[in-house]
This record gives sequence, C-alpha cells and structure tokens, in this order.
Amino acid sequence: MGGGTRGSPGGSPGGSASRSPGGTSGGSPGGADLVVRDLSVGYGPVRALRQVSLEVPEAAVVTVLGGNGAGKSTLLRAISRTLSFQGGATTGGTVTLGGRRIDGLAPDRVVAAGVSQVPEGRRVFARMTVADNLRAGALGASGGRVERAAALRRVHELFPVLAERAQQRAGLLSGGEQQMLAVARALMAAPKVLLLDEPSLGLAPLMAARIADTVREINAQGTSVLLVEQNAALALRLATRAYVLEVGEVTLSGPSAELAASDEVRRRYLGVVDEDAAADVPGLTPSMPRLTRWES
Ligand SMILES: Nc1ncnc2c1ncn2[C@@H]1O[C@H](COP(=O)(O)OP(=O)(O)OP(=O)(O)O)[C@@H](O)[C@H]1O
Ligand SMILES: [Mg+2]
Repeated sequence: MGGGTRGSPGGSPGGSASRSPGGTSGGSPGGADLVVRDLSVGYGPVRALRQVSLEVPEAAVVTVLGGNGAGKSTLLRAISRTLSFQGGATTGGTVTLGGRRIDGLAPDRVVAAGVSQVPEGRRVFARMTVADNLRAGALGASGGRVERAAALRRVHELFPVLAERAQQRAGLLSGGEQQMLAVARALMAAPKVLLLDEPSLGLAPLMAARIADTVREINAQGTSVLLVEQNAALALRLATRAYVLEVGEVTLSGPSAELAASDEVRRRYLGVVDEDAAADVPGLTPSMPRLTRWES
C-alpha cells in the first residue's frame, strides 16, 4: 500500500490524500460525472458550506464523512436543489452532471437529469401504500411506462419484501424496511447518481450490513453513489474515494484506503478503541501502528 497519510504521526497528510479539494476537470461531457465546485450555502445568516468541491466519477461510490452539523445533509440538499424547502440557499459555486450545469434547475428537473436523493431519516409517505410510495418516486423521472416498469422490476429484485408488502401502508414497515423503501423510491427514477443520506443511521448492525450490500449492488448495476455517513467504517468499505467535511469545509480528501489509514480519520471517525471496525477497512493491515500510539 502507498504511504499516503499513514506514515505521518502528526496527522499531516501526504500522498494522494490531500488537505485541499484540489482543482480537477469539470467532468466528461455526456458522461455522468457529478462535479461540485466551490459550493457555498447559507441558511439565512448561518453559513453551512464554504467553497466545497468534490467529484463523483461515473459509476463510482464516493463518501462524505463528518460529525453532526458538519454540513453533510446540506451538501446533498444543495445538489438535489431541495435547500429552499429548509430555508437554505446556495450563495456560490456550481454543480454539473456530465458537464451540464444542474445548479439552476428546479428539484424535479434535477431528478429528470439523473440525480435522486434518499433524504435523511428515511422519510417515506407513511399513510400511503408501499406501491404508491414507489409510484411517487417515478414522478419527475424522464422515462415513460416501459422505463417505470423496468425500474419497478429492478427495485423488487433488490428488495423482494417490497413486492410482498406492495399493498401495505408504508408506516407499518420496520425501520430497516422503510429505509429499503426510501432507497427503492429514489431508484424508481432510474438515477445516474444516487445521493444517500445516512442510510445506516439507527439500524441494527445486520440491517446496516444489508443496506451496505444493496449499495454495492446498485453501484454494480452502473449507478454512482454519493454516500453521506457518520458510520465511517462502513462508508470507507463501500467507497473508493472519501471526503471529510468539518464545519462546512472539506478538510481532507483522497482514496478511501488512504483516508482509512490516516491518523486523523482513524482517531476522529473510526474511533480510537474500535480496532475491529478499522481492521475491516481496506488498506489497514496488521502491521498498522497499535492504538497505544495515541495514548500519550
Ligand atoms: N433548516 C435549517 N435552518 C437553519 N440552519 C440549519 C438548517 N439545517 C441545517 N442547519 C445548520 O447547518 C449546519 C449543517 O447542518 P447539516 O444538517 O447539513 O449537518 P449534517 O452534517 O447533515 O449533520 P447530522 O450528522 O447531524 O445530520 C448546522 O450548523 C445546522 O445547524
Ligand atoms: Mg444530516
């Protein structure tokens, strides 16, 4: 494995994990690269994001780590253009998909362009049936009947329980099943990019692992994923690239394996005592420094 941030006890990164987001391309025209450049967001006087830049290459899984209030949900809302529902507004920067600006679009046009969001807290329409929740997800999608039928087949294959419970009210599903429905609803629009806001939050470890498997499968079918998570061990297992957001700014970014090995991420996001979780992350090897190193 490359040195990356691992060999720097002070947490100052080297290698390709970097402190600055770095300037790169604007995304390939016609492709599905999602590129966020210098995005700033405020809720009234509250500045929630400051010049955030990140890229989700076509067919990739990219994660954004960060603690409570770091701005993770704000970032996803800014991309999906749903900020105004929360009293927020973009104050600068651009968002492009395949080279095309999407930061001036209405939320339904963003869906039609190929970006769907699974909001925080798995908000399903509790009093509607599972089937109607899924129908709602297809609203605003660019495809017609044939595409909708194909999308429904896809989500039923991914989540057979949603086919079994099609006529049940969504509010009666378990927490894990509601999360599946929330993901399935977003997939009904056949997105190129899926924005996932803390899908594992509040779920038992087994259910969180199932959601992780599903994210892998969705990605294997060609959809790229921007995954926001506080569960850093899980997120770093899924993603090839990671960004750390702190108080509205990207403070660290790089390949997941390098971030997983960095002192700072291990200490702050993987947890000093959680060696088991860290051991599951690619890039961490038994030769890694022991935790006693941080006890001084
Ligand atoms: N609707 C709102 N009105 C005013 N301030 C808000 C609003 N939503 C978020 N904020 C503020 O913006 C900042 C970023 O919040 P955000 O919800 O994006 O963080 P987060 O990283 O998603 O946190 P969490 O892990 O708790 O979900 C915080 O300071 C928060 O208090
Ligand atoms: Mg949030």
